[in-house]
Amino acid sequence: MRKLTHRLSAIALLLTILFQPLTSGFAADFKREVIYQIITDRFFDGNTANNNPSQSAGLYDATKTNWRLYWGGDLQGIQQKMSYLAGMGVTAIWISPPVDNLNTNIPDGGGNPTASYHGYQGRDFKRIEEHFGNSGNTWTDFDAMVTAAHQNGIKVIIDFAPNHSTQDNAGEFGSLYDNGSFLGNYTNDTNGYFHHNPNISGGGWDDRYQVEYYTLFDLADLNQEHATIDAYMKAAAQLFQQHGVDGFRIDAVKHITWGWQYSFANSIYTYGDSFLFGEWYQGNTADPLYHDSYKFANKSGISLLDFPLNTAIRSVFGSNANFSDIDSVITAEGTNFTWKEDLVTFVDNHDMARFLSVNNNNNRLHEALSFILTSRGIPCIYYGTEQYLHNDTSGGTDPYNRPMMPGFSTTTTAYTLTNRLSALRRSNPAIPYGSMTQRWINNDVYIYERTFFGSVVLVAINKNETSGYSISGLNTSLPVGTQSDYLTGLLGGVPITVGSGSGGNNPVTTFTLPAHTVSVWQFTEGAAPPQIGSLGPTAGQPGVKTTIAGRNFGTATGTVKFGTTTATVNSWSPTQIVVTTPSVTNGNYNVTVTNSGGTVSNGIQYTVLTAKLIPVTFTVYNATPTQTGDYIFLTGNTVELGAWSTTWDGAVGPMLTPNYPNWFLNASMPAGQTIQFKFIKIAANGTVTWEAGANHTYTVPTSGVGYVNVNWQY
Ligand code: NOJ
Ligand code: NOJ
Ligand code: CA
Repeated sequence: MRKLTHRLSAIALLLTILFQPLTSGFAADFKREVIYQIITDRFFDGNTANNNPSQSAGLYDATKTNWRLYWGGDLQGIQQKMSYLAGMGVTAIWISPPVDNLNTNIPDGGGNPTASYHGYQGRDFKRIEEHFGNSGNTWTDFDAMVTAAHQNGIKVIIDFAPNHSTQDNAGEFGSLYDNGSFLGNYTNDTNGYFHHNPNISGGGWDDRYQVEYYTLFDLADLNQEHATIDAYMKAAAQLFQQHGVDGFRIDAVKHITWGWQYSFANSIYTYGDSFLFGEWYQGNTADPLYHDSYKFANKSGISLLDFPLNTAIRSVFGSNANFSDIDSVITAEGTNFTWKEDLVTFVDNHDMARFLSVNNNNNRLHEALSFILTSRGIPCIYYGTEQYLHNDTSGGTDPYNRPMMPGFSTTTTAYTLTNRLSALRRSNPAIPYGSMTQRWINNDVYIYERTFFGSVVLVAINKNETSGYSISGLNTSLPVGTQSDYLTGLLGGVPITVGSGSGGNNPVTTFTLPAHTVSVWQFTEGAAPPQIGSLGPTAGQPGVKTTIAGRNFGTATGTVKFGTTTATVNSWSPTQIVVTTPSVTNGNYNVTVTNSGGTVSNGIQYTVLTAKLIPVTFTVYNATPTQTGDYIFLTGNTVELGAWSTTWDGAVGPMLTPNYPNWFLNASMPAGQTIQFKFIKIAANGTVTWEAGANHTYTVPTSGVGYVNVNWQY
């Protein structure tokens, strides 16, 4: 009897292990994921019944010749291809904005019909688009797709576009609905739900005020500082969290006020575990707003798509530029971005020509893919890449970069490559969490090393199509001995012999890197002290849960400290711990894990906010005079206000001055708290001028939005 019970419980345990959802861990630790970007309409038609729904009839083109109409792909289609995606090593999908979109046809300049098949013209953010789900705009198909994804170990990210509703001068004129009830539109905007400014154009693209408050491509620009729009968008995002989404790709973050976005991120994290990344379009690190982009990423809780690295990847692998282009972006962003491992890296996307339209060379595509799958950041692969999809009409740019998925072969090299490197990202922590160091470089060859404590991954890419290179003088922290290619020659990789050296510089015996090859060598460290690789979210008020990810935490629960304060542990596993932000004074804390044996981990920074964040618009009238390059900032007594910092990165701002010498800024403030603050001028040369007098004080509302209007104190 005893034996039988034992056997039964062993079987029960086995069953629990076998049938546990494959989704590994929490969305907060997205560094271990491989994202796959899907244009829902162009992936797979899983249900022909929703192709031409009655409320928006005529927007479907069965012939697939008008590239700006719906072609039939839908949520059921994605659901049916889950095992295809899982087999490729995809662990997260980013799908088109799934919300109810524009119902009408808006003819283009040539009189051809166009539709919002891409999803970027939302009309009701609380319902599902009928072409993707059903004509009742219900959640049924969305829920089924999310369930199937999770069963296959795949997380779901939705594209979310809160900057605007539909086109403001045609179609539905920006009409916005709240779960079916009409809220308002652009042309008769009695409530002030929209900003009414011209399109962003020319130099306006680099002007902070125009970038945030002007109109993006005729799309009705929502006023998120209005309490109704603020509450509506936060409720809509929460609805998607309730329906199981693991993350949000936020559209056009450069064009929405920072204050609102910090509070939006805080609202999502307060509700639950998630990962957020935004589209901050920029060409390179010399962009006039590049500094803004990393300040935003460092403070908002919203990571970014890595556009500067994307540009370098396309020039190096697409146009044969020197590998130093990539190496210098990695170095620059490495010093600027606090959470660089959360940047989402990509070779191409729906807004640019596919890689093969730029350079129709599969070797180069494989090399670029290998690069994003092994370098720092979270890789995102555009649908069809693994099938070598491209249509080169008009250079392959939008909409020709969005063809129908041509097939679902599971035997292509790109498919296999992604699967193998996805497995390595899971097994070796150096890829998700490690540092990245250049070890050997020339125009054609890039050898870089990722290390996380004792775990190491060394990658060598030779993009020269015809010449091999003799590699001498290479050092590595890989262990002594022969290291074989982790890809087992899939891309022509070779073994290396590592000799004995010191200080993490073991000499590699001179070897030849053959033409157009990728070699990956790796070592995963065994037992070691607790090691933290990731924390998410990186800021929250007392009570908000945060996930600590890493290794060697042990199975027995230990303790987690924020500075010297012990936090409540909600769950504990050897690789992930969820803790509740303790009630400590607002500010930055070093978070550490102590295992049950008393060994303490490395520390990682977390910002304890004063309270939940709400957007407050500050205006200071008649501020002290400024010259070109001088800016007015806000600073004050809580971490949200920069804790009296007077630096560009520490204070809140720069403020905007469409009506000089008045300056204003929408900022995120702790709800219900009485704050003290002042305005300062930071001159172009760094000199700081404080306004005179006593500190201003303001009690932030407990909910909704706030406004503060004061005069600069002379
Ligand atoms: C950026 C998106 O990626 C693009 O496809 C879209 O048209 C614009 N934002 C506007 O939403
Ligand atoms: C100097 C400011 O003038 C004052 O108002 C503020 O209280 C302190 N900085 C905070 O350190
Ligand atoms: Ca369909």
